[in-house]
Amino acid sequence: MTSTTVSHAAGLVAALLFILSLAGLSQHRTSRAGVGYGIAGMALALVATIVVAAKSISAGAVALILIAMAIGSVVGRWRARRVDMTQMPELIAVLHSFVGLAAVLIGWNSYLEVERYGAAQMVIAHDLLGIHHAEVFIGIFIGAVTFTGSIVAFLKLSARINSKPLMLPGKNALNLGALAAFVVLTVWFIVGPNLGLMIAVTVLALALGWHLVASIGGGDMPVVVSMLNSYSGWAAAAAGFLLDNNLLIITGALVGSSGAYLSYIMCRAMNRSFISVIAGGFGIEAPSGGDEEEGEHREIRAQEAAELLTQARSVVITPGYGMAVAQAQHPVAELTRRLRERGVEVRFGVHPVAGRLPGHMNVLLAEAKVPYDIVLEMDEINDDLADTSVVLVIGANDTVNPAAAQDPGSPIAGMPVLRVWEAEQVIVFKRSMASGYAGVQNPLFFRENSSMLFGDAKESVEQVLQALSADEREAASAAQFTAAAA
Ligand code: TAP
Repeated sequence: MTSTTVSHAAGLVAALLFILSLAGLSQHRTSRAGVGYGIAGMALALVATIVVAAKSISAGAVALILIAMAIGSVVGRWRARRVDMTQMPELIAVLHSFVGLAAVLIGWNSYLEVERYGAAQMVIAHDLLGIHHAEVFIGIFIGAVTFTGSIVAFLKLSARINSKPLMLPGKNALNLGALAAFVVLTVWFIVGPNLGLMIAVTVLALALGWHLVASIGGGDMPVVVSMLNSYSGWAAAAAGFLLDNNLLIITGALVGSSGAYLSYIMCRAMNRSFISVIAGGFGIEAPSGGDEEEGEHREIRAQEAAELLTQARSVVITPGYGMAVAQAQHPVAELTRRLRERGVEVRFGVHPVAGRLPGHMNVLLAEAKVPYDIVLEMDEINDDLADTSVVLVIGANDTVNPAAAQDPGSPIAGMPVLRVWEAEQVIVFKRSMASGYAGVQNPLFFRENSSMLFGDAKESVEQVLQALSADEREAASAAQFTAAAA
């Protein structure tokens, strides 16, 4: 067997492992196995690529590859261990930017090699040269859009820049104009490639990537992250064509299509137009409504909240990003256990984009050992909320905002939300009246049946637990007293 055959076979096995990995990752219970398949596939792909490359490059070059891999592994492991769950989308955005940058560098390298050594020496047939030029251009374009788009997504997700959409005048015309310019430049480059056109397409795509993501508001960031995931896949596939690497093409296509499908599913869940979001908020007008307060809010203390809970028939807990920040999942799980012991029906309502990444709340609740069967999706719980005694909103904001359902001018209008305001009582656990991720005020806080329990969510839930314990002790000593008197 030649090394090429071995490499093709290894590529095929690695591709199958990647497909198994995606299948595993689609469900919480099988996600660990999914990660394992992914690691195995990537390790196999790397070894096969290096073994084949080692035949045609110098020992020094192989050593450089190994040194780069060692440095990359150490840095990657160090960052991944330190990152909080709440920072995961930011990390993913940064990693996507690397894929984009790599595709740009590969495109430039490929062009400069043909320039330097000529097509014949690069084993590119003369009639395929036009296709090669198109691959270079498309690879650089997708890579550069992914690169700057991911950097803006990182800056928005980490709150280093404002998450509100950038509304340049004629923004849709700018995006369409950039796409039209790309088509013209590509045709021009195929006919007469030159350095000026390479620089032009790189600058154009960098600016387009920046503008596309800057034009998208914070509320749509989950879709942007998975859309950039998709772009980074297509950028990798384009690099695969340039490097004549089938595995890179397959892997890129898998990432590209699964990312696009995930974006589509999220758009459906948030009632957003997929085309509008991927086109940088195409057709969306400047939204009205900001973060100004809209009335009087009522405050409640932990003691009173505990009293309400002990009298409740049914309780629904809707967690959000604040529960993750406060790491309140363990006391929340304890509260759930204690209330269920007292015969209160407790369930969780999880919004598809609660927190900062898909499945964020489910992972935290599973970590705190909340039983799976009481953790329900938004659609499963929404119709039951009107018949619920108390809803505890723990660090959630945008995902329980009635403006999404009732104010067509709101930046989050049309996004499905948990209709918590239909319950008899709503207690909101947060630190202040500050707005949520989308930067819009929440009319829920000013409703008559809502009260605010201000403070860090973990501390507040712990105070409610203490109040419950005090109540239990009182009840126990009262029972003892009655028994003694009898
Ligand atoms: P948000 O709307 O982001 O609101 C979270 C609330 O938690 C804030 O209003 C904050 O208020 C409160 N909070 C923060 N730290 C807290 C702490 N230590 N203790 C108590 N409260 C705390 O959360 P959400 O309802 O989960 O909505 C998620 C938002 O993120 C959506 O707009 C969604 O589109 C966006 N997003 C989601 C994803 C995915 S895929 N899930 C990815 C990116 C963006 P205070 O500051 O007053 O405490």
